[in-house]
Amino acid sequence: MNLSVNIAGVELKNPVMTASGTFGSGKEFEQYIDINRLGGVIVKGVANKEWLGNPSPRIAETYGGMLNAVGLQNPGMEVFIKEDIPFLRKFDTKIIVNVVGRTISDYCEVAERLQNEDVDLLELNISCPNVKEGGVAFGISPQMAEKITNEVKKYAKQPLIVKLSPNVTDIAEIARAVEAGGADAVSLINTLIGMKVDVHKRQPVIANKIAGLSGPAIKPVAVRMVYQVAKAIRIPIIGLGGIMTGEDAIEFLMVGASAIAVGTANLLNPRATMNILDEIETFMKTKKIRDIKEIIGIIE
Ligand SMILES: Cc1cc2nc3c(=O)[nH]c(=O)nc-3n(C[C@H](O)[C@H](O)[C@H](O)COP(=O)(O)O)c2cc1C
Repeated sequence: MNLSVNIAGVELKNPVMTASGTFGSGKEFEQYIDINRLGGVIVKGVANKEWLGNPSPRIAETYGGMLNAVGLQNPGMEVFIKEDIPFLRKFDTKIIVNVVGRTISDYCEVAERLQNEDVDLLELNISCPNVKEGGVAFGISPQMAEKITNEVKKYAKQPLIVKLSPNVTDIAEIARAVEAGGADAVSLINTLIGMKVDVHKRQPVIANKIAGLSGPAIKPVAVRMVYQVAKAIRIPIIGLGGIMTGEDAIEFLMVGASAIAVGTANLLNPRATMNILDEIETFMKTKKIRDIKEIIGIIE
């Protein structure tokens, strides 16, 4: 059975990766899973400098999912390079660095600093608020999405994945814009913007008031968006959003994703990625699928 897939020239042993922000750099997961079995680890967002994140409470449960407004807390790229790359390199898996920033030059600085570091792919998180544009996320305007992709490409040595925000009217338009900007692949979806109110306290549950919705509740939206993007662009797609089981993962592959990432499921069960991988293998055996690529994009 062949599970290997290719993302922008990087060969993954299988299509199962971890979603940014839900797995750290894997240190907390080492005791539960065999990191060597993962196709890749997409680490939590890395900025040029330390970000403190948002005030608490920052997470809440919802029906079929969760809200988070962690605010991309991270110690900055120097700490990441010193501590997390050597940790992950102990394992036979690909390292994908999720890059965050508040201005285009912040993103470029991280890409430039990583040029000679041992990482396989970069993933640009364009859902961050752009301070210069008054807090509007880069990922919700096709012009800004294309521009930031184009600028970061000038500094990136590794192939560049651009992670798309679902909080737009026409996801295909954004995907085409980042493809035009030079993206080597796209990943989708990031969280959907949501809100929850504590009616007894008469205040929002999350200190930031609005937050990102993730988990199985968003999966049908994510599958629909991957389907639409697959019809619109030629570069590879990494699909994510609410994947809890092997069959969930296969849905994403069938609508056109070449690989998938598991997010919220890791927080519910640290062994989720291993179970999903086992379930994909069982599905392939049962359905007599010899090569995973046979099912990628089979939905017309
Ligand atoms: C607690 C938490 C932290 C996250 N941090 C990041 C991040 O740093 N960068 C990023 O691009 N996405 C981040 N995400 C979004 C996830 O990577 C993923 O796109 C989203 O949660 C949908 O997948 P899921 O439903 O499987 O969780 C975060 C999600 C959660 C729940």
